[in-house]
Amino acid sequence: MSNSNNQPDWAAIAENFDLWLPQIAPVGEVLLEGLSARPGDKIIDLGSGTGEPALTLARLMRGQVDITGVDSAGPMVDVAQRKVKDEGLANVRFMHMPAEQLDFADNRFDRAMSRFGVMLFNDSQQGLKEIHRVLKPGGHFSIAVWSTPETMPTLLWSYDVFSKHIAEDAAPPLHKVTSLGRPGVLDEMLAKAGFSEFSIEPHTFHYHFDSFDAYWDIVETSDILKQQYDALPKDQHAAIREEIAVLANIHMNENELVIPHEFLLATGVK
Ligand SMILES: C[S@@+](CC[C@H](N)C(=O)[O-])C[C@H]1O[C@@H](n2cnc3c(N)ncnc32)[C@H](O)[C@@H]1O
Repeated sequence: MSNSNNQPDWAAIAENFDLWLPQIAPVGEVLLEGLSARPGDKIIDLGSGTGEPALTLARLMRGQVDITGVDSAGPMVDVAQRKVKDEGLANVRFMHMPAEQLDFADNRFDRAMSRFGVMLFNDSQQGLKEIHRVLKPGGHFSIAVWSTPETMPTLLWSYDVFSKHIAEDAAPPLHKVTSLGRPGVLDEMLAKAGFSEFSIEPHTFHYHFDSFDAYWDIVETSDILKQQYDALPKDQHAAIREEIAVLANIHMNENELVIPHEFLLATGVK
C-alpha cells in the first residue's frame, strides 16, 4: 500500500525495521531523559512501531510503570507485542490504533512520548490534540521529530538522487519526514493542541556504519525505500548506489561512516 506522502509502508516493512534501532537509539535516550518517568506512572507511546522507546523504558523500570504503545500499522504492533511475550515484560502492551483517534478516556495518562512518529501521522495536529486530551492535568510529554532537510543528510541524499531518476511524486518522503522541523512549526501546533508550557530543543546524534556498503545494505534489506526502488528501472539500481556513495563520502572518517543528524525534542506539561 502506498500513500500520498511516500512514507514507507510500515506494515510491509515491520519485520526488518529493527535494523534501524541501533542507529536511532541515542534519540530514545534523550527522549526518555526528557520524559522523566516516575514509578506508578501510566504512559502512552504514540507511533510505537516495533516497540521503541516503550520497551527500553519497560526494561529500565521493570513493572514499576504501566506502558501502552499505539501504532496504526498492525504488523509493527505484532512485532512489539512478540518482544513483550518473549521477554516476559510486565505492565506493557501494544495496540493497533491511529494516533488521531485514541480509544482512551480523557486525562488517563501521566506521561506521553513519541519517537519519530508525530510528523508521520496523517494529521499531526489532530494527533497532538489527542495527546493533550489523554494527558492528565500536570502530565508531561516528550516528543522527538526530525528537524530540517539539510540536517537529515541520509534522506536528503536519497531524495536528491532518486528525484533525478524517478518522478517527483514517487520521490523519498523528505517533505513529510521534515514537515515539523522548521522553526516555529511545532511550537504553533503544540499551542493549537492546547499546550502552553513547553520547550523545543535541537539535538544532534550520529549514524555509525563500518562502510558505505554497510549503510546501503541496511537501506536495501529494510526495504525502507521500496516504493522508490519499485519506480526505478532495474538498470539504474547500481547508478543510484554509486551516486549516493559519492555524496556520503564527505562523512567517511578513517574506517567509519559517521553521519550527523538533527532532531527536535519537544517537552512540556499539560
Ligand atoms: C519511523 S517509525 C518510528 C517507530 C518507533 N517509534 C521507533 O522510534 O522505533 C514511525 C511509526 O509511526 C507509525 N505511524 C504513522 N502514522 C501513524 C498514525 N497516524 N497513528 C499511529 N501510528 C502511526 C508508523 O506505523 C510507524 O510504526
